[in-house]
Amino acid sequence: MVNLGTKIRELKERQEKAILGGGKKAIAKQIAMGKLPVRDRINVLLDEGSFHEYDLFIAHDAREFGMDGKELPGDGVVIGTGTIHGRSVAIYAQDFTVAGGSLGSMHARKIVKMMDYALRMRIPLIGINDSGGARIQEGVNSLAGYGEIFFRNTLASGVIPQISVILGPCAGGAVYSPALTDYVFVVENISKMFITGPEVIKSVLGEEISMEELGGARVHSEITGNAHFYALTEQECFQQIKTLLSYIPWNNDKHSLHLIEEKQPLKKYNIEKIVPVDPTKPYDVRDIIRAVVDGSEFFEVQEKWAANIVTGYGRMGGRTVGFVANQPLVMAGVLDCDSSDKAARFIRFCDAFNIPIVTMEDMPGYLPGIDQEHAGVIRHGAKVLYAYSEATVPRITIILRKAYGGGYIAMNSRHLRADFVFAWPTAEIAVMGPEGAANIIFRKEITEAPDPEATRKQKVEEYKEKFSNPYVAAAKGYIDSVIEPKDTRKFILHAINVSKDKHVGRPSKKHGIPPF
Ligand code: HXC
Repeated sequence: MVNLGTKIRELKERQEKAILGGGKKAIAKQIAMGKLPVRDRINVLLDEGSFHEYDLFIAHDAREFGMDGKELPGDGVVIGTGTIHGRSVAIYAQDFTVAGGSLGSMHARKIVKMMDYALRMRIPLIGINDSGGARIQEGVNSLAGYGEIFFRNTLASGVIPQISVILGPCAGGAVYSPALTDYVFVVENISKMFITGPEVIKSVLGEEISMEELGGARVHSEITGNAHFYALTEQECFQQIKTLLSYIPWNNDKHSLHLIEEKQPLKKYNIEKIVPVDPTKPYDVRDIIRAVVDGSEFFEVQEKWAANIVTGYGRMGGRTVGFVANQPLVMAGVLDCDSSDKAARFIRFCDAFNIPIVTMEDMPGYLPGIDQEHAGVIRHGAKVLYAYSEATVPRITIILRKAYGGGYIAMNSRHLRADFVFAWPTAEIAVMGPEGAANIIFRKEITEAPDPEATRKQKVEEYKEKFSNPYVAAAKGYIDSVIEPKDTRKFILHAINVSKDKHVGRPSKKHGIPPF
């Protein structure tokens, strides 16, 4: 006799079979590579016991190339909802043990269901990618699936945070969806991203390269900038995602979590001792950030790429703040193509998600050189100007030391509508450094002098005296206050509080055309 118990037993049997994915052997192979099984990944990332899975019994309808009758449990992807920090998220995770996590039409339909859900419910979307790309046997239906995903990635951009985790060899379409999302996480030895793999490269171009050298975690964290966070293990990666989600809001209508408990910065970051007065001496600007943020906790974004600019999150008075800072430790903190891209993207994320931006400035300008000019530093550099000018969130600048030329304007100057600009007494705001400036404007006097070297030194000093300080800009009102370094946190906190309800408009338009 059929009763409820029988029905439940049948359900359980079906569930157990589906959950095995590609089978025990295939799962063991993944584990041996340091990879967690697909549902373990989800369960480690989400709050314990919060995951609810959907579409477990979906079946593909492909018939060609031996697909007829071939079972692909869940069609190679697990989808569902759960919570992180007690708040809802939508998630999908591809299962490499089932046809290499390749994307067929039903697989795509499952992902799209979660994307639509996330957008409708205004909750973050997390995608764990572990896939050989478009399922070759399903032809154009796979490509159509990717198209649907890319379209939704774009639709959701700036509305809900979209997070991509690369946990396997991801090829073709499997890397383009992550490229359209806000944050990409990679793990050493596990993550690979490329449009075409080593085999295709060898057959088309005759070039030989390993998967790791072509698109491993380090390549994308240090060289291409395609990844934003790098971890040594999957567990570390999931912890990073949770940390990121503690800083950013759940959607563009919300503000980030406001932690009531305000922590003072640690005493070991003594702000008066970090910056050498000699403008040629480097220091780590992250220590300045740590000296002003709550608990000295700074969560850096794209730490390993374009390190001449620092981007990341901290809290001030319990509220999330996005930091953009020149890094004098790397290439004197100049702006170049990559650092401009990095800063501009970060600024646009903060602006889309209501996160105030604090800019720390100490830099000699845009990087000169044939390589940079030919790489398009004009176009890339313009992205910083565009991103700041467009941003309507509260914007605060602290000029620590050098603010020369285009760098002065680009790094959230008053002229690009910064709300507050503060300068330390050590600030030098000028068209260029005193040496370069004196050589140009006093060239004739220097070359014609009886002692050119002595005259040059004297002119450099003259220029320094007149322009290498914050007071010329202060006299024009371009900066609001010259402040003592020890008061930096106080001034930023006050500025953020004052700007809490900031409201400014921009001319009505369909959208702008940033220098992509
Ligand atoms: C169907 C696939 C597949 C795919 C892998 N598999 N990729 N099946 N379509 N795209 C299957 C394999 O046949 C194999 O099945 C199983 O998954 C595991 O794959 P392996 O090759 O054994 O694994 P590994 O050696 O680790 O190599 C992983 C890989 C490689 C680097 C991802 O499989 C690979 O190069 N795949 C093809 C990548 C690719 O070119 N994709 C199409 C991109 S075009 P069995 O049954 O043997 O276990 C694309 C278009 C979208 O995505 C573009 C949008 C702009």
